[in-house]
Amino acid sequence: MEITAQLARAVRSAVGVELDPDVALLQSSRRPGVDFQSDIALQLAQVTGVPPREVAAAIANAVDREVVELPEVSGPGFLNVVVRRSWLSAAVARAAGDARLGVPVTSSPRRIALDYSSPNAAKEMHVGHLRSTIIGDALVRLLRFAGHDVVPHNHVGDWGTPFGMLVEHLVDVGWDGTAGIADLNTCYQDARRKFDSDPAFADRARSRVVALQRGDDRTRELWRLLIAESARHLDEIYALLGVSLTSADTYGESFYQPMLDETLEDLRHKGLTELSDGAVCLFPPGFRGRDGSPLPLIVRKSDGAYGYHATDLATIRYWTGPRGATDLLFVVGAPQSLHFRQLFAAGRQAGYLTGEVHAEHIGFGTVLDEDGRPVRSRAGESVKLADLLAAAVDRADEVLAARSSLGTAERAEVARAVGIGAVKYAELSVDRLRDYVFTWDRMLAPGRNTAMYVQYAHARAASILRAAGGSVVGRPDLRTPAEHALALHLVRFPDAVDATLRTHAPHKLCAYLHETAAAFNGFYDTCPVLAAGAPPEVRSSRLVLTGLAASVLALGLSLLGIEAPERM
Ligand code: ARG
Repeated sequence: MEITAQLARAVRSAVGVELDPDVALLQSSRRPGVDFQSDIALQLAQVTGVPPREVAAAIANAVDREVVELPEVSGPGFLNVVVRRSWLSAAVARAAGDARLGVPVTSSPRRIALDYSSPNAAKEMHVGHLRSTIIGDALVRLLRFAGHDVVPHNHVGDWGTPFGMLVEHLVDVGWDGTAGIADLNTCYQDARRKFDSDPAFADRARSRVVALQRGDDRTRELWRLLIAESARHLDEIYALLGVSLTSADTYGESFYQPMLDETLEDLRHKGLTELSDGAVCLFPPGFRGRDGSPLPLIVRKSDGAYGYHATDLATIRYWTGPRGATDLLFVVGAPQSLHFRQLFAAGRQAGYLTGEVHAEHIGFGTVLDEDGRPVRSRAGESVKLADLLAAAVDRADEVLAARSSLGTAERAEVARAVGIGAVKYAELSVDRLRDYVFTWDRMLAPGRNTAMYVQYAHARAASILRAAGGSVVGRPDLRTPAEHALALHLVRFPDAVDATLRTHAPHKLCAYLHETAAAFNGFYDTCPVLAAGAPPEVRSSRLVLTGLAASVLALGLSLLGIEAPERM
């Protein structure tokens, strides 16, 4: 935002320090008439050895007085910042007249390969798989909006031991692929049970893996039907969620199989492989196991099979090589953080990740139930995703039924947007690295930091605009504290998007939208827009603010993959 940029510029010219963009320069202030407080002079005094009040005064004198009034130095060296009303009003008008609401297009576009969702096929997705899908989808939208070329890829687990087991089970039950598998989960569990209790079956399953890898026709045919069945199930979930992943974005583990021999040869050729207990391994430096011994990435197991590590090495080679990606992002649970650190270290050694390539594991915490256990472990049963999403829509409909006067058909449509939005927002509004407790109450509380709260504020603004026959552009006159506060939020939208992208942290955009919705509600409660007899300039001024608020809330939600209904 210009206000932050302005202060950073003042710091540079007063103290000669270039601030890290992640330093929090401004905090909101509770003092009446003061917009922000900054403790930056106190932080810099420690670095420079100059008394904080002196640093503060130097910064205050260097600010652009068109944007903020001369900041007052208070206490030990705080700066009290008041944004100039004329500047703020012009900034609102600029944003309202811009389809991007002030968010710039990046000047350094990247080609980003983004790995997300990536469930294991043939098991039904459960709530634990939602996080990668929802966070990844929001990041695709945000990065594309910023002007990057984003290539999503769904690294579906569709290869290896479980598929030998499953195919063998399908042969046993005589499945020919003509009928759908009613319940993939049950099928998987039955196969697993047999594998664990029947040694003869386990042997057959292991031979099946070998047959699959060798390309045996019958085995491959059943495997293909099984994967197609699983893809159908995934497509259904993605459609329900409004996530844009399709089968064209699927680059499952099987996709990389033809590249594995070549990748191994390449690594061997570069002198990076070592034989350890018959397995071909890489030992990127700096990784040690619990007992202190070097920790391997296993490229090929002693029985000749390739596994997860080998596939991922081929994956980074493929995306940075032929696909020319400059950035590799992996939205995968935090428990795999060691895997990715090792993988990236090995990728650097092998020259797949060069200096220009940015590779990052975008981790996230576990989804817990209300008793604090990982959701998937509940009595061995998982809450199925399709059921869960249907329940979210039903509950949203109940909440709406009590509050809104929409007709049944429209209400059903809104309930879908609200229910699905609630699930997404609940995941997105929590710092992704924290574990997250899945509770309905938190998800659909209209008064809390929920999608519904933001959606309601948007629908209120939309209803005013409808009644007024559209929004207005121009410079609003910010007469009251509520108008001033709302304007201050609205012009910070580009900042919120920027902060969100810099750390791949959708919860920052959620927090911003929640605060902005609250500021809009404060404005709505105290500043009548369409009151009979109101002077026309007050009306049009407030319509500018209402219009920009509606646009900011709708665009912000859409960047998170959440709909903003016009009526609720
Ligand atoms: N299928 C894996 C799992 O469910 C996640 C794959 C993530 N992507 C990757 N390239 N390793 O744990």
